[in-house]
Amino acid sequence: MSTVAPARPKSVEDITAEALGRYSNTQDPRLKEIMLCLTKHLHAFANEVNLTEQEWFRGIQFLTGVGHMCNDSRQEFILLSDTLGLSMVTDLLSNAKPAGATESTVFGPFHRDDPPAKEFGDSIVDHSRGGVVAYISGRVLDMNAKPIAHAALDVWQAGADGLYDSQDTTLGGGMNMRGLFHTDSEGRYLVKTTRPVAYQVPNDGPVGEMLRATNRHPWRPAHTHFMISAPGYQPLTTHLFDSIDQYLTSDVVFGVKDSLIVNFEEHSTHDESAKKFGATAPFVTASYDFVLPPARN
Ligand code: BEZ
Ligand code: FE
Repeated sequence: MSTVAPARPKSVEDITAEALGRYSNTQDPRLKEIMLCLTKHLHAFANEVNLTEQEWFRGIQFLTGVGHMCNDSRQEFILLSDTLGLSMVTDLLSNAKPAGATESTVFGPFHRDDPPAKEFGDSIVDHSRGGVVAYISGRVLDMNAKPIAHAALDVWQAGADGLYDSQDTTLGGGMNMRGLFHTDSEGRYLVKTTRPVAYQVPNDGPVGEMLRATNRHPWRPAHTHFMISAPGYQPLTTHLFDSIDQYLTSDVVFGVKDSLIVNFEEHSTHDESAKKFGATAPFVTASYDFVLPPARN
């Protein structure tokens, strides 16, 4: 009597079913859910585009290049996630806010730990790159419009040349255009900086290759980054965008939300604002109140 060998996978569906079955002993239920769904969608993707071996090998070469591009100051995988829109999808899913709270946006790869401590009204421009002097001011409030005193505002921005300090080889790793501020007893903050400018995300690596191959531009609209925290409140990672920027509707990393767009008012004479800030014209001012919901328990 001949023995019958167990049926081997014959179709894409068979392989998918067999691969999904391999996770049946996964202890962590969330890991199991993620691996099942990832496997299912990866197989469906390959099937839908009829992915050839040569194409997938090119994809593997691309991902290898992304890995090789990463070092202490360059995170090409974050950039890939950002430019695919995946970072903003996870932002939307993770950071749903109650109406009235300030919206979050993409963190990006240029935050640095331990920025220099700054006093109310200090400048974050420690090494000038030119640009127009700007004052950004406002308050940090709770959901009832009550000021939050001593909230921390970690602020970072590209210089007027469009480069972050970590990209500026003349600084030898030193910091510039960043600082840690705190609100005063009435919840107010004041940051002196330069008017943010649009800049290109790093595009000398595999992500840049992908952008060029798909005829996409590499620009982010002008913005200043804020990471705001206060005990008892949900932390907030966000930007303020300049309303006149030409890339607001085509940000390469999909980070713009309408509620985060601000007007920078131009001051060309010695007006009231000049007196208030002790500034010499020309300069610009923008104001924005950040609203934090209470911490989740
Ligand atoms: C940024 O705004 O710093 C940034 C965000 C995503 C990718 C690259 C840069
Ligand atoms: Fe940025």
